Amino acid sequence: MKIPFISATELDKITENFPTPFHLYDEKGIREKARALNKAFSWNKGFKEYFAVKATPTPAILKILQEENCGVDCATGVELLMSHKMGFTDIMFSSNNTPASEYAYAKEIGATINLDAYEMIDFVKETVGLPETVSLRYNPGGVFTLGTDIMDNPEESKFGMTHAQLIQGFKDLKAAGVKTFGIHSFLASNTVTNDYYPVLAKQLFELAVEIKHEVGINLDFINLSGGIGVNYRPEEMPNDIAVIGDGVRRVYEEVLVPEDLGEVKIFTELGRFMLAPHGLLVTKAVHRKKTYRDYVGVDASAVNLLRPAMYGSYHHITNITNPNGKLETVDVVGSLCENNDKFAKQRELPEVRVGDTLVIHDTGAHGFSMGYQYNARLRSAEILYQEDGTARLIRRAETPEDYFATLYGFDFEK
Ligand SMILES: Cc1ncc(COP(=O)(O)O)c(C=O)c1O
Repeated sequence: MKIPFISATELDKITENFPTPFHLYDEKGIREKARALNKAFSWNKGFKEYFAVKATPTPAILKILQEENCGVDCATGVELLMSHKMGFTDIMFSSNNTPASEYAYAKEIGATINLDAYEMIDFVKETVGLPETVSLRYNPGGVFTLGTDIMDNPEESKFGMTHAQLIQGFKDLKAAGVKTFGIHSFLASNTVTNDYYPVLAKQLFELAVEIKHEVGINLDFINLSGGIGVNYRPEEMPNDIAVIGDGVRRVYEEVLVPEDLGEVKIFTELGRFMLAPHGLLVTKAVHRKKTYRDYVGVDASAVNLLRPAMYGSYHHITNITNPNGKLETVDVVGSLCENNDKFAKQRELPEVRVGDTLVIHDTGAHGFSMGYQYNARLRSAEILYQEDGTARLIRRAETPEDYFATLYGFDFEK
């Protein structure tokens, strides 16, 4: 069972005022999550979460995280612009395949540049000049395992640089006069285990020791990036951030402290873990169809939540209007002219009647932000369910005017 963070009665009040579909976020849950993370790493003086803006690039959400002492991690110039305009000063720029103009802007606003490639050291030096602080992104290659479980395949990943490149890179940066250094690595995505960060941290801490001996620099920070996952499936155990923070502390004390590296700051760039469970995609059943299968047509589609169509991801669905209905097996589909536009395939749900409200769980991260406009289906609104129980529109739904706004030679107003 997954229980939505809002009751049916409270949600009805919102759907009376705002048409579905929309993304709904839970302010209380977001604040509690940020506090739990900061508490779990409070043993580290310089700890900072740089929330991955790509997960939920919505200013009202970023503002909550800002109030909870988080910085931001940006991947593009526009994310940098938005974060800077919002007054963020702790900004990480973890980009890849990046144009010089974006490095120039990152440098101008004082963001910490995290270089994805060894080749980028010379590129930045020649185009915009190296800043005082530089971070390098590490990719150890091979397969990343936890015990016998294969978590991901860094060897096939386009991100980061090899061990040899990283060591040479720090030598180059030191010789070029860079003063402050960090490392970053993201080796597995959506890990539903408390072991991922501690195992990754141990690798990076040992690397920091090697860098100290080989290059003669003490790293200022180690960025564990994102990758802590959420239990999209109700049978999965959610991660326990207190256990994770303590696991990282233990390897920190084991590896870094004896090497006189006990001042190293720990950074994270979590997106999914911070936000996914605190967002719901709220949609209504609009049609039923029966052929070789039973279909429930809803007013949301893959433009509002791409993950199931793109990766076959599971998102739990609750029929909040008819939770005790007779169970039936259905495909829950949107209206796009694509057969992968399905939020659920052969899912057992309490009978869904036309007009029922369904909530699709864990859509607060990489949900709205991966949206698109295929079939001229427009992006939905985003609504914040505030701590005082009221709902606030934080992004309106797109209109046809928005869709036509970038077109030349067509006057929508006529
Ligand atoms: C560089 C970087 N940092 C952080 C994240 C956030 O990852 P997650 O949402 O899995 O925590 C991502 C996600 O794609 C990323 O590319």
